[in-house]
Amino acid sequence: MGHGGISMAEGKPKSAGQAFKRLLVYFEPYKKRLLLILVVLIVAVLGDLAGPYLIAVAVDHFITVGAQPLPAWLQLLIGSSPSRGLGLGVTMGLLALTYALGWFLSVIMYRLMIRMTQKVLLLMRMQIFQKLQQLSLSYYDQHEAGDLMSRLVNDTQVIADVFGPGIVQILRGSLTIVGVFISMMLLNWRLSLVSFVVLPVFIVFAVIFTKRVRSAFRVTRKTIGEVSANLQENIAGVREVQAFAREGETLKEFRETNLRNRDANVTAQTLSAAFGPILGVLTTVGIIIVIGYGGYLILGFNPPLVSVGIIVAFTNYVRRFYDPINQLLQLYNQLQSALAGAERLFELLDTQPEVADAPDAVDIPPIVGDIVYDHVTFRYTEKELVLDDISFAIKPGQTVAIVGPTGAGKTTIVALLQRMYDVQSGAVLVDGHDVRHIHAKSLRDQIGVVPQDTYLFTGTVMENIRYGRLEASDEEVIAAAKLANAHALIERLPDGYQTMLGERGATLSHGNRQLLAISRAVLKDPAVLILDEATSSVDTRTELLIQKALNNLLHKRTSVVIAHRLSTIRNADNILVIDKGKIVEQGKHNELLAKEGLYYSLYMSQFRRQEETEAPGTLSGALPAPATS
Ligand SMILES: Nc1ncnc2c1ncn2[C@@H]1O[C@H](COP(=O)(O)OP(=O)(O)O)[C@@H](O)[C@H]1O
Ligand SMILES: [Mg+2]
Repeated sequence: MGHGGISMAEGKPKSAGQAFKRLLVYFEPYKKRLLLILVVLIVAVLGDLAGPYLIAVAVDHFITVGAQPLPAWLQLLIGSSPSRGLGLGVTMGLLALTYALGWFLSVIMYRLMIRMTQKVLLLMRMQIFQKLQQLSLSYYDQHEAGDLMSRLVNDTQVIADVFGPGIVQILRGSLTIVGVFISMMLLNWRLSLVSFVVLPVFIVFAVIFTKRVRSAFRVTRKTIGEVSANLQENIAGVREVQAFAREGETLKEFRETNLRNRDANVTAQTLSAAFGPILGVLTTVGIIIVIGYGGYLILGFNPPLVSVGIIVAFTNYVRRFYDPINQLLQLYNQLQSALAGAERLFELLDTQPEVADAPDAVDIPPIVGDIVYDHVTFRYTEKELVLDDISFAIKPGQTVAIVGPTGAGKTTIVALLQRMYDVQSGAVLVDGHDVRHIHAKSLRDQIGVVPQDTYLFTGTVMENIRYGRLEASDEEVIAAAKLANAHALIERLPDGYQTMLGERGATLSHGNRQLLAISRAVLKDPAVLILDEATSSVDTRTELLIQKALNNLLHKRTSVVIAHRLSTIRNADNILVIDKGKIVEQGKHNELLAKEGLYYSLYMSQFRRQEETEAPGTLSGALPAPATS
């Protein structure tokens, strides 16, 4: 297990530019909406900028009385010589209006943006989910579920956060900075230039700080990743933890991981908290300069080079100038990690399934069941040859049994029949079609599998059996369960067929899960049936039930049975004995026994014992039927 909890990639993404461009593509369908957002944004920023200006007008014309005539727009509104009370009332009323407008437009803007990004988020998640469904098993051999989940859930969320509200803030911040700069220059360029003196100092501080803060937060992300990896592992392994009574040690380890995370958080948050006050100090310095130098421009010159109102307005503008700069610096960091997340997503979306339908693939017609393995070799990884020159044939309706030690390659052989992986050389042919030249779905639709351990989904028993054939009616499901000897068991469950099964069917015993799996396979009624040690580690009573159900299923159907059950093996038309990826012997039960080779020794060590516990000489079809069936 590993790093499932780490959601944000570290550092600067390599091709952030490309990832950014590709992200924009998702927003292309929303061009009109984006334009609308931009318009609303500009109006909102203009409203913001008007505030300090209105204050300047109020101070210069109605609180103190300046020599200048009223601005033209105000004269239009209230005449050239209004009373001071009226003037003050009107300008302050307008000021209140601009604030209300700003709030209202923000709400509209965020609403427009959030709806859009949530749609994009949904689209991304659907694309990733679809990709995950398409990817071959080999992909899952190499990637951890936790990591994939974190991409689906966290990375998309980070992207949506930054590209939704984040972009609005970035645009608004940039527009505000430019707007404030222009407004100040228009109102009084001398005072403006001087009040920007603090800017370089501010930027130097900001760059140093954000770097520090960023690397501190990187440590927090790494350690929180460790915390969640630790948690995930211990939840998954809780049986072992309890069985070995390792709760104390586990807790200690968890505590240590958490302590590292705590320390990292303390450092990071202290640093970032320190930045706020520094910003405040610098803004104050800016304001001091505005008032000091502004005072000088008034007192030291006749006529004065600036008005009191403008000084008041500037103190306000200065604040509005530095706030968004700070915001933008923080957003820049977020943007970096969102882009890193985007890169991870695109990497996943660009992964081609190793086993993909060929462009000229066709649907395989209804399968008769003529199966040929023609000199098949296969390896999962470069190193190890797992199947070495495997050749055999199954005629329609025959049952072939595969036996051999654990790790010999039995499961791999049947995985190739479903084309879960592609062979390295040779071919697997079904009714004469190379499985690589037919649509995998058309093939898998006609193959039923009862694996060693069955995955049951969260849902009712009925739904889980219906997974075998989605369009089956309730009656068909029940008929299948009866044929699979599962009906009696299901009837005994609290809600019968409507009983909810938890994750992995945790509420059922292994044997009962297998009975449901067989019901699934019966319902599917496949042309070819694969049983992969379907009855290993099942109690004897259930095994009898399963065995009988299997006989119903094997009957007149092409079947590949990986078995440890003597009865199934002995009845097989052909037995393949696999060892270290090779067929070392094949033939019928008696022939193989006579050879006194691997089959013989497997038989002596394993199957003989079963024979002794079963009624001597019973064959599979003739097992005593349990009372429940
Ligand atoms: N997904 C996989 N990735 C890499 N190696 C695998 C994978 N599955 C099985 N193997 C290896 O391939 C060999 C054959 O495995 P398998 O077919 O499962 O054997 P069997 O079913 O006979 O026990 C083993 O050495 C096993 O370790
Ligand atoms: Mg196996």
